[in-house]
Formats: sequence, structure tokens, C-alpha cells
Amino acid sequence: MVANIGVLLLASLVSFPSTSGSRPCVPVNFGQSSFVCQCNATYCDGLDAFDLPALGSYSMYESNQAGKRLELSTGPIIKNHSAPADLVFTLNDKKKFQVMKGFGGAVTDSAALNILALSEATQDNLLRSYFSEKGIGYSILRVPMASCDFSTRIYTYLDKEGDFSLESFNLQVEDTKLKIPIIHKAKTLSKRPISLFASPWTAPPWMKTNDDIRGKGTLKGSPGDRYHKTWANYFIRFLDEYAKHNLTFWAVTVENEPTAGMLEGYPFQCLGFTPEHMRDFIANDLGPTLANSSHKDVQLMIIDDNRILLPYWAEVILSDLEAARYVHGLALHWYLDGLIPADVTLGRTHDLYPEYFLFASEACAGVMPWDKGVHLGSWERGNQYSHHIIEDLSYYVTGWTDWNLALDIGGGPTWVGNYVDSSVIVDVKKDVFYKQPSFYHMAHFSKFIPAGAQRVGLGANRKSQLESIAFLCPDGSAVLVILNRDSEDVKFGIWDPAVGTIDAISPANSIQTYLWRRQ
Ligand SMILES: *[C@@H]1O[C@H](CO)[C@@H](O)[C@H](O)[C@H]1NC(C)=O
Ligand SMILES: *[C@@H]1O[C@H](CO)[C@@H](O)[C@H](O)[C@H]1NC(C)=O
Ligand SMILES: *[C@@H]1O[C@H](CO)[C@@H](O)[C@H](O)[C@H]1NC(C)=O
Ligand SMILES: *[C@@H]1O[C@H](CO)[C@@H](O)[C@H](O)[C@H]1NC(C)=O
Repeated sequence: MVANIGVLLLASLVSFPSTSGSRPCVPVNFGQSSFVCQCNATYCDGLDAFDLPALGSYSMYESNQAGKRLELSTGPIIKNHSAPADLVFTLNDKKKFQVMKGFGGAVTDSAALNILALSEATQDNLLRSYFSEKGIGYSILRVPMASCDFSTRIYTYLDKEGDFSLESFNLQVEDTKLKIPIIHKAKTLSKRPISLFASPWTAPPWMKTNDDIRGKGTLKGSPGDRYHKTWANYFIRFLDEYAKHNLTFWAVTVENEPTAGMLEGYPFQCLGFTPEHMRDFIANDLGPTLANSSHKDVQLMIIDDNRILLPYWAEVILSDLEAARYVHGLALHWYLDGLIPADVTLGRTHDLYPEYFLFASEACAGVMPWDKGVHLGSWERGNQYSHHIIEDLSYYVTGWTDWNLALDIGGGPTWVGNYVDSSVIVDVKKDVFYKQPSFYHMAHFSKFIPAGAQRVGLGANRKSQLESIAFLCPDGSAVLVILNRDSEDVKFGIWDPAVGTIDAISPANSIQTYLWRRQ
């Protein structure tokens, strides 16, 4: 947390812009296992615009439970290492895996409300923390289509009963006054292109078998009929209306957690689909409607639910050529990851359908009844993020999306009382926000693994408690993330046959990102 003296000296010698010099975290302890970093209207921690060292040296960013947040150090890459460490990771660029899309979070109504409740200067620091060059490089934003559990009221864009022609379709104040301004601000701050994807939670009640936004209910009628055509047109109108605000989408998911709407008494906005129903809705309605619209380049993701549905849902939908031709990817939520291993879900699905990308579309901590709500400064929750990100990326996942970009101190607002945690927590009364350990765990991936990076092989000469993953960036440089969830320091080496060896230590309870040029 102390600025690197060498970097400061160098900066003054070669007269970098006066903004040079990273800004350290202002730690605040709330009695959890670690601390949060506090930001206000006039101060927020951040990184220097990031530049790789010359060939023959590496950069390393470290965060740990004890005190560091994205602290930079540099060191030499040793050409000929005569005394290899006991544990050595070897980069294998002959083994190539998925190409990355990016990392990000969701602009829910609640996230937008929380951000806009801060003073303009504090808002600016918050959005810069995620999107600017000195922030953590988010390039994905998920946009709910109308209300969800993280809204303060219930609405859809087509609440007028029987309006099959969508004449009364209207974006709401949550779109025009909250979400859209934030998306524009993010795009302005970001050097990276921002990819938007949208997901609906519920259809208007009059289109549903149970005439309600929640509970067990599906679209009335059957695929190909006017209810299904109208629901497909609802997607088009949503995309049209956002296009009028100069926002175009990379992708849509067919439905957020389609299994929720198959459960009796489900407490908030949902719309049930079986995989067969989703397949036929895509083949008859959503697929052709999108393809025959000005949004034909918008990609379609199925599932948008826990990976326990794999590979079954993928088999039902993707083995049907009429539906599969419209599908590009599979979106997954992390909530039940502990129940079912990655290899029999993600791995198996990739083996069956390698031409469809896998993408993590939602995750948050503080969901389980025994571990509910906000924990300010929990290192374990940060660990949960990076552990699952490394696991997902090890099984072909091409992007990873956090849930609400920001929640309040209580983990809301949420009209249904579904309080959870978030990587940024705002305290409106104090006009401050707190960056949680999970924010920095996300950063170790989001900032350094750009869109277009490709995962490559990384072997180890023995088993260890370290979790690891490696990528080559489009500029040819290498990125390696090392997570240590254990309470012991571990010495190790990184051997890149193209350049040499890095001698390293992974401290107890830490996450590190190593970066180096290879040519
Ligand atoms: C903002 O935070 C900085 C750093 O902690 C502090 O010096 C400053 O007094 C704070 N400003 C306000 C208005 O609280
Ligand atoms: C590395 O160093 C050892 C001992 O100094 C030497 O025998 C060996 O030839 C060197 N290898 C390379 C690839 O330079
Ligand atoms: C959209 O972009 C055009 C061209 O840059 C601009 O004239 C127009 O004002 C923008 N509209 C909105 C709603 O931002
Ligand atoms: C495609 O859209 C046009 C109008 O935009 C419509 O006239 C036509 O029927 C549509 N075709 C299909 C196959 O839906």
C-alpha cells in the first residue's frame, strides 16, 4: 500500500504525466477476515495506466488477506535457471484453449439506484473503479429486461393486457433515468469496447399461465402461437428502444433462470421453460424473429441458469438443428457449483458441442440462508470468486459476470427482500463506497486478461495447493494468475520456454497476476 519509490523516482526523471503514481487503498476494517477499501468524492485507490516491462522482466500484482491490494512489483526473468524450485509451472503455448470475451457485472435497477444516489464526484470514482484505464477493466455489462428481484417495484414493458401488437411497449424510468445513463458513462470511461447482454425475468402476467409475475408459470399456448410470437417481438422492441438511445447489444439470453418458473411458489419475477419448450420457442419464434430483424447480429445464449442443468439442456436444445442454428452460447450461473463438478457439466458440454461458447452470466456471495447478506471485508468471499473463476476458465468458459455492480449496506434494495453481497457496497449517508475483497479478486482477471486472450496449457511438476491459469494476450504477452487459499507461503517457479524462469513466492491467502513479454 506504499507507493513504489523506484517507480516514483523514475516517473519524475522521465517526467511522466503528473497523474502518474498509483493511489493506495484506504483500508477500513469491519471485523471480517480482511478489510474494504474506502472511496469518497475526492479520493479513490487506483492503478497507473498499465504498461508491460521490457523483455526479460516481469510485473506482478498482488492482493492478500493481510494488507495488499493490487500492489505492483517487478523482477527479472532468469534465462538459464540451474536450481529449479521444487514446484515449477511450465507454460505450454502448444496447448491452446478458449478465446476470452471479458469480465463484468450487471446494471440492475438497484445497482443503478445505489450508484446514482451518491454525489456526482463519488459516482465518478465508482464508475472509474470499474471501467477506466486506472480501474479494473470491465468490458461486459448485463442488463435486465424490465424488473427483477433487484428492483424497487414490479413492472414489465408491456403491462397492458392483450396488447399483442406491442403498441403500449415502453421502456420505464429505470431504463431512461437510471440504467441507460450509467451504461453511457461506462462506455465513455472505458478504453475497451463494452459488450452488453440482456436477460428477461418475467413476461407480462397476462401472457403467463398463472397470470402472475412470480410462482410457477410459463408462456400461455404453445410455440409458434401469438403468445410466443409476441414474447419474441418483445425482445426486438427492447433492442429497438435501446438502439434509439444509441445502445446496441452483443447478446441476449433466452430467459434468466428458466427453472425458477417451474417451481411452485417461486418468490420473484420468473418465467418457466422446460428445455423442450425453450428449444421450440427458439426454433419457431425467437430465432427466426431475431434473424429477420435489424438485430440479426445479436448472439443468443441459452440456459442462463445453474450448470447442474448441463449437459442435459444443451443436448435437448443443440441436438435440434432448427433451434441450434440460432444459438451461439451457453450462459451459466454459479449458485450450485459446489454440488456438481465442472468436468461432468462444463467439460462434458464442451466436448459434445465445442462450437458453442460457455459464458458465466451471474454470480454473487451472501445467497445461502446460513451465510446471507453483506460481509464487509470478507476475504473468503473473494476467494470464492477467484476459485470459481479459475475453475470455470479451466473448463472453456470465455467470460465471467458478477451480479449487481453495487448494493447498499444492507445488500439491497430488493423489493422481495433477497439481500445479498456485492463487490461494491455504497453508504449513501456518508457519500462513500467500499470495494470488497471480491472486487480485487475480480480485478486480478478482468484487468489483465483482455478480450481476445487465449488460454494456454500450464503444467506443474507436482500437486500443490496453488490454483493457477495462464493466457496469451493478443499482443503476444503472457498472463498467469496464482491463487493461494491456504495459510502457508509457497515457493515456486514459472518456466516459460520462450523466455526463461521467474522465481516466485505465493504468500498465504493471496492472489497474484504475473505478466511478461515473450518477444
Ligand atoms: C476522502 O477520503 C480521503 C482519503 O481517506 C480523506 O483524506 C478525505 O478527508 C475524505 N473526504 C471527505 C469529504 O470525507
Ligand atoms: C545452463 O547452465 C548450465 C550450468 O551453468 C550449463 O551447463 C547449461 O549448458 C546451460 N544451459 C543453457 C540452455 O544455456
Ligand atoms: C445518438 O447518436 C447520434 C449520433 O452520434 C446523436 O446525434 C444522438 O443525439 C444520440 N442520441 C442519443 C439518445 O444519445
Ligand atoms: C420478416 O420481416 C418482415 C418485416 O420486417 C415481414 O414482412 C416478414 O414477414 C418477416 N419474415 C418472417 C419469415 O418472419
